[in-house]
Parts: sequence; C-alpha cells; structure tokens
Amino acid sequence: MAEDSKGVSNLLHENRTFPPPEDFAREAVAGADLYERAQQDRLAFWAEQARELISWERDFEQTLDWSEAPFAKWFVGGTLNVAYNCVDRHVEAGNGERVAIHFEGEPGDTRTLTYAQLKDEVSKAANALASLGVAAGDRVAIYLPMIPEAVISMLACARLGATHSVVFGGFSADALHSRIVDAEAKVVITADGGYRRGKPSALKPAVDAALAKSETTVEKVLVVQRTGQDTEFDESRDLWWHEVVDPASPEHTPQGFDSEHPLFILYTSGTTGKPKGILHTTGGYLTQAAFTHKNVFDLKPEKDVYWCTADIGWITGHSYLTYAPLANGATQVVYEGTPDTPHRGRWWEIVEKYKVTILYTAPTAIRAAMKWGDDIPEKYDLSSLRVLGSVGEPINPEAWMWYRRVIGGDKAPIVDTWWQTETGALMISPLPGVTATKPGSAQRALPGIVVDVVDDAGQPLENNVGGFLVVKEPWPSMLRGIWGDPQRFKDTYWSTFEGMYFAGDGARRDDDGDIWFLGRVDDVMNVSGHRLSTTEIESALVSHPAVAEAAVVGAADETTGQAVVAFVILRSSHAEDEGITEALRQHVGQEIGPIAKPKRVLVVSELPKTRSGKIMRRLLRDVAENREVGDATTLADSSVMDLIQENLKKGS
Ligand code: WTA
Repeated sequence: MAEDSKGVSNLLHENRTFPPPEDFAREAVAGADLYERAQQDRLAFWAEQARELISWERDFEQTLDWSEAPFAKWFVGGTLNVAYNCVDRHVEAGNGERVAIHFEGEPGDTRTLTYAQLKDEVSKAANALASLGVAAGDRVAIYLPMIPEAVISMLACARLGATHSVVFGGFSADALHSRIVDAEAKVVITADGGYRRGKPSALKPAVDAALAKSETTVEKVLVVQRTGQDTEFDESRDLWWHEVVDPASPEHTPQGFDSEHPLFILYTSGTTGKPKGILHTTGGYLTQAAFTHKNVFDLKPEKDVYWCTADIGWITGHSYLTYAPLANGATQVVYEGTPDTPHRGRWWEIVEKYKVTILYTAPTAIRAAMKWGDDIPEKYDLSSLRVLGSVGEPINPEAWMWYRRVIGGDKAPIVDTWWQTETGALMISPLPGVTATKPGSAQRALPGIVVDVVDDAGQPLENNVGGFLVVKEPWPSMLRGIWGDPQRFKDTYWSTFEGMYFAGDGARRDDDGDIWFLGRVDDVMNVSGHRLSTTEIESALVSHPAVAEAAVVGAADETTGQAVVAFVILRSSHAEDEGITEALRQHVGQEIGPIAKPKRVLVVSELPKTRSGKIMRRLLRDVAENREVGDATTLADSSVMDLIQENLKKGS
C-alpha cells in the first residue's frame, strides 16, 4: 500500500466507472464540444452563454474587467432585470401556462403556480414592497419557511433592485439580529411559522426578539400567514402579507439594473468569528447559475420536473431553487418539510407523485435514507428519475453506489457537484451525457472554469498527491466581496496564493485527471507526519456493513501529533455486535492502510450537525481530546452533544 508523507494521502481505491447510457448521451443537452469551445476562448464562451441564456435590456460591452482584481466586473455595461428573466420572459414566450412551482406543504397541502401566476405574485409583492419604501439598493431580510412566498420575495426584491439577505429559518434570533444589523436591512419578510416535523414551528417571535436586541434600521416587518398560530403583532411596524401584497396591482414594469448591481448577500456559517456576508451581483451570477443548471442537470424545460431539496436559506436554495431553474423556465417541486414527516418515505412519495425527473440533494440525506433501509424507497415508483445530483460535501462511494442503485434504478447518471457559497454556482462536476462517472469524485472543472490542485507554495501538484484546490481564473458567478469588509475578502481568499482563489478544500487528482475532494483543509489530519483526510477514513468506515454513519477527527496525541478518532453510528441490525470497534479499526486498516487505523472508535447514536447538515467536527474533537465542548449554538439539535457524552460514559 502506497504511503506518502508529502501530501494528503488518499489511498482509497475506486476503480468503478459508469459511462452515460447511450440514449442519454445521444439526447444530452451538453456534449463534449462545450469543453473545446470554452478552451478556445474562455471569455468569448462566457459572453456567448450570457447572450444565449439571459435576456439583457442593454447588451454588455466588455465581458470581463479584472483590472481591479480580485474585484471582478462581468458583462460590463450590460443591464438586465433578474425577475424579468425568471418570470416575465417565459410568459411573453407563450409559456405562461407552464407550471413553475409544484408546492408541497409538510402537512400535505399543495399549491401550483404557473409562470403567469408567478409573474402576478412577484409583481404584486414588488408593488407592495415599493409601497413600504423599498427601492433599488435597499436591503431586505427574508426569514421564511420553504413556502412559495420565499421565492416570490426573493424575486420581488430582485425586480426592484433591492438586495436580499435570506436568513435560514432554523437560525436563532441572535443570528438573525447580527445579519440584520450587518446588512442594515430596511424591511424583514417573515411568517407566523412553518411546518416542521409535523408541527407548526413559530418564526415571528425570533424576529421580534432580534429586533428587540438593539435599535436597528428595520422599518417594517411583512408577515406571511402560513400556520395561523397566535402571533404577536406590533401595529406600528408589522403588516400581514395578505393585507398588503394580495390587494396590490399585478402590473409592475421591471427596470433594468447594471450587470454588477448587488443581487443578494448570503452569510456563510463561519467556523469561527463573525459570519461573512458573501456578496453576489446580477449578470454574471445569473449567467453561470443558468448555464450550469441547464448543462449539468441536462434540463429540458418542456418535459422535466426538477426538485432541489435544499432550503432557500443556503446558497443551493438561492442558485438552484430560485434563480437558475426559473431563469431556465423549468417546472420544479418545492417541499416545505423534513424527509421523514409523516413517514420515512415522504421524499420518494413526492418523486412518484410529481414524476420528478431530476433530483438534487445532499450526501447527508442520502446516508440517512440508506440507514433507514432500501425497503422504504423500493415501495415507490422512482422510474421517472433520470439525473441525480449531490452537493455539500464529498459523497462517500458507498452512499454514491446506493444512490445510483436504489434511487437511480442503476442507470441515472449522478452528478457530484462541487461549489461553495462564494462561487455562486457549480464549478466542478461531471456532465451527465459526457462523463463516465466515478463514485466519490466530482471529476473535472466545468467548461469555462479553470482550477488546479497546488502545494503549500502554490505550485501545481502531480497526480495522486493531495493539496489545495484553487481557482485560477475569475468566473462569472464569483463572489464580489464580503459585505462591508473588502480587506477580509482579500485576506480570506486571495492572499494564500498569489493571483489564485483559495477555496479552503483539500483535493487530489487521479491518473485520469479527475478531482477527488478530501474535505476542508481544516479537517485534514496529520498523523506521524502523514496527512490524512477525514473524509477518506469516513468513507472506509461507511463501507463496512455495520456502519450507518461516521465522523472522523484528528485529536491531539503526544506521540503521533494527531491521532485518528472515529465516531460511528451502527446500523440497528449490528448494534449488538461483539468486538465491533476492533473490527472497524481492522477494516480501515485494510481499506486504506495501517496508518489510517483509528486509534479509538467510539459508538454513538447521533452526530452533531449544523442545520445545513455538515458534521461539526470541532465539537467531536473537543470530546476526543477530553475538553469541555465548545460553542454548540449552530447545531441543528443542541442536545446531541449531551447524548454523545452520555453514550460514551455508558460505554466506558
Ligand atoms: C463542501 C455548498 C466535496 C466543500 C454548495 C466546500 C463539497 C463547502 C461538495 C462549501 C462536493 C460542497 N464535494 N465537497 N460535491 N460540495 N462541498 O458554502 O468543502 O455551504 O468548500 O456551499 O462544501 O459549502 P457551502
């Protein structure tokens, strides 16, 4: 077994490849020629995409102005209206009767919005916001459940040129307050509550608490009635959506805004310190979002039914639930609730009901479904599915194979899409009609995107050596900065390597040139001088039949620098297995090599996850190093850490 002391070792071997089915490749939206065209003249390629996919009010004069790098200007001189692109133009083209949104509420209520209806709703909301004093350049905070009004609110802001800041509905009053203050929002759009896990879950009280924390710039709070629960109302500040938006005029003439006009701010869940307000602008963002959505998901808007399970509180919900699918005139499902309410087959029931053809979700959800068992999805007709997407973290080969076999009927191509809040749109991903996919690899940069894997000094690395993922050329949907903090923007992303964007992810290339992500560089461990990736060991653990889920951390160790500590959730059928922890150590040793064997394997019943499903390894590291557990306020379920401590006490 090869060992390598220079780079991150990724010794997990994966030789399976899955070429696209022939008929799929023949009819695919994107062919291999896209790579060639982009390579011949990258800027001309993007200019062509911008003109083909987007309707400009005034055409642009220059594709890219990089003279003030790292502050980019794309499609300079062009003007456009994003809401016009996402709704009006489809109605003008005669597609007003096409369904834009099939909304499925958690309690089972449904609502269908055609493009014509969506246009009216967005226009009414834009008129209502304008009547509250919202104008181009103002900021609006959106704190809503996953209901159509969330999409309508975002588009209404875009229509007016107001910059939205969507705050995930699961965030606390404190988090909402800091985001409102940082963005100096004028209006907050919220709801009385939303449905979660079978019950109404209040939202408005968090807005009240946030606004009571300090004097803010907020003048009005617009409240959607979703659950009908008792809601306190401040008559001088609060307004009901149905009293202000419903009676507003559905006529609203969209105005064109500069290509670089700020479209939204989205705060990233920073690992430490103050959250970063990632700023995205108009023309470049919409171009790359639409381009990637069309080509990576093989979108055929007249027949596909697309479903992205992300919440609008995250970048995936912004780019691949609101902006790209609507800019492309797609029909999509929007689901309000959790995958297991009222039962663990809910998602698959939705796929069957709407005959979903393209599903875009996250590895954590796939692993949960895998844990619940094949028999659940097998009860439903999933044969409509023809493209499966994954995003958010490296997908373990086992979970990938399960997704393909059980959900994709062993034929639907899987697109493992790598990108970030900062990149705005997909950057690295297979093209489903072109790429022979490999379980666990995001594979290669999309046409028009230039990335590399480099060492500490920024030098390109040879194959099979782990290093840092960088983006070498500006891209249309790149972040334009951190709201109010240009220095932090430069320091965080542009100062590690001269002239390159530092993504913060570890990666390696294999002998085919395909990229494998190794997790965040802060999750890379150093054991006896060997750099090991947490993800790689997690994948090895999950490939054992007894393991449902695993999280690995590097804990400080006197002799080896760091030691591998694994937290595992066992499948219920293996919960009582004798000697399982030793068996798992051996298994990792076998899969990867002795160096990767966990020093300790701790069996737990839950793992600490953020609300977006990322495992908070920092907290596990505290446990592994016998420290007091640090700030756990961004956990989806804050009781998980207590549960883990209890498990471990019992086990020892
Ligand atoms: C990780 C989510 C491997 C990565 C769109 C990145 C991935 C961070 C993948 C961004 C993937 C996302 N393979 N890792 N396909 N997709 N990541 O800002 O570490 O919430 O830096 O954006 O997620 O997370 P963010």
